Amino acid sequence: DADQRTDRKRVLLAKPRGYCAGVDRAVQTVEEALKLYGPPIYVRKQIVHNKHVVRTLEAQGAIFVEENDEVPEGAIVIFSAHGVAPEVHEQARERKLRAIDATCPLVTKVHHEARRFAKEGYEILLIGHAGHEEVVGTAGEAPDNIQLVESPEHADQITVADPEKVVWLSQTTLSVDETMQTVERLRTRLPLLQAPPSDDICYATQNRQQVVKEIAPDCDLVLVVGSRNSSNSVRLVEVALETGARAAYLIDYADEIDPAWLVGVGTVGLTSGASVPDELVMQVLDHLAEQGFHDVAEVSTADETLTFALPQQLKKDLREAA
Ligand code: F3S
Repeated sequence: DADQRTDRKRVLLAKPRGYCAGVDRAVQTVEEALKLYGPPIYVRKQIVHNKHVVRTLEAQGAIFVEENDEVPEGAIVIFSAHGVAPEVHEQARERKLRAIDATCPLVTKVHHEARRFAKEGYEILLIGHAGHEEVVGTAGEAPDNIQLVESPEHADQITVADPEKVVWLSQTTLSVDETMQTVERLRTRLPLLQAPPSDDICYATQNRQQVVKEIAPDCDLVLVVGSRNSSNSVRLVEVALETGARAAYLIDYADEIDPAWLVGVGTVGLTSGASVPDELVMQVLDHLAEQGFHDVAEVSTADETLTFALPQQLKKDLREAA
């Protein structure tokens, strides 16, 4: 029976996978800034949570720092796609840095929601992972009004001052299903809990999870290309396991595939997180082909056409230099 399975070795390649519009814009921002202003260009935090992208940009002259105070006064600093708290902009002004903000517009949207609800006197329950840069940035918009809810279990322990004036918001890269469980559990105790005006979990996160759900039941193994610190990539592994994949692993590079994972495997599902360049997925396909997995079928559940314009300041400088 094991032989039979291995007889029909195939790969189901998920689509959409890889770069979302926000990542594409953030990476392009650093590349264009390097070309226009010349290296070094400072970037606060990893521009996107992908090891390969960071290494590649470093080789081109980007210098990644944790905080603004590591950037020389007057230099250019790019803020990552995950967004920053207002105080980070403030620090940059004090240090006379030329800040270019590569925050994804869909994260900025959540910042606006947080500011608006806080101004209207709401208590905000922010569903997300403690310590994640996006959560730190969003919470920084209204620190006195925001409480973090980390899981469905955590929802049971939440208390609020006024149960009639409370709204939930979320990190953009969560599991859609788990977030809904968290919201339901909050609602059992806070029936008047309001929902965000539009989805906070972004289109890219939703689409990548949707196609994984579609292929997972047919897969003996699902490989997700992505880095450990990439929230949306880690969620894809969880979704694969929850929806029927027999095994699922997160890898940065093809050479991390343990030969033992492929023993007795007929169907491999393959996808990648929103911060992953497709060349890394192609390298995994090559590696799988060497192991006999030549038959590749792409399974598509959505078309993505969204793109975002480069940050204003950069666009202006590019125009002037042209
Ligand atoms: Fe933006 Fe979603 Fe990508 S929030 S950076 S489009 S994963």
